[in-house]
Amino acid sequence: MSDPGAQRLEADNLCVNRGGKSVLEDLSFSVASREVYALLGGNGAGKSTTLLVFLGFLPVARGEARVSGKTASAHPNEVRRCAAYLPESVSLYPHLTARENLDYFLKLAGIAPQATAVESALDRVGLQSSVRDMRMGSFSKGMRQKVAIALALLRDTEILLLDEPTSGLDPRGIDEFHGLIRGLSDAGKTVLMVTHDVYGACQVADRIGLLRDRKLVAEFEAPSGGRIDTETVHRAFGGGSL
Ligand SMILES: Nc1ncnc2c1ncn2[C@@H]1O[C@H](COP(=O)(O)OP(=O)(O)O)[C@@H](O)[C@H]1O
Ligand SMILES: [Mg+2]
Repeated sequence: MSDPGAQRLEADNLCVNRGGKSVLEDLSFSVASREVYALLGGNGAGKSTTLLVFLGFLPVARGEARVSGKTASAHPNEVRRCAAYLPESVSLYPHLTARENLDYFLKLAGIAPQATAVESALDRVGLQSSVRDMRMGSFSKGMRQKVAIALALLRDTEILLLDEPTSGLDPRGIDEFHGLIRGLSDAGKTVLMVTHDVYGACQVADRIGLLRDRKLVAEFEAPSGGRIDTETVHRAFGGGSL
């Protein structure tokens, strides 16, 4: 099933309209298995739209988005089963604890995990043991995201789609999050994150696609064993003025 050379996510000349206007125009890019790809762009560039198309939530006017070879608009249930989605604001239930939220959402997905699997997922994302039985209403955004990623790990999806995952995190939270994403990639996950944060994208991505005015205008690739150069990407943005 897991073909290491396979393209997990493919946008093929994607054209999408929302509210009667074109918001993506001929967008093409692909994300290989185990790759971390950051789609970088300013507000309104079409980043969230792209993720929603991959999840089969939005119709396409032309072209197609494929997840593990399946066309998202034609097979929305299949693609949602193999891709976990972290929306920009993670909304788990504030009156439930972290463990209760996991239990609830996993049951909804038809999964009954062992308690040990839940603990090990929470260990892996670095959520302190002392807060696991606390109601999530008191959690910071970083803590909520850790629980949401633990949920994705327990669903054991191959693909993670992350919408602005570091916005609202403090610098330590951002570093922890990037470490977590790199670890997941090393463990075989494929990650597409969308962000307006040039620095963060360079820290974590194997490749960056620059989305501007509905189109992909440039791509950058990390050198083997290194990271993408922040200055270069900034310059491509026009001094980072997104
Ligand atoms: N629900 C919606 N209805 C109509 N237009 C929308 C809707 N959501 C977003 N748009 C438009 O689609 C374009 C892309 O939005 P979006 O994908 O949210 O951008 P980004 O995530 O890069 O900030 C914007 O012009 C935005 O106004
Ligand atoms: Mg967005």
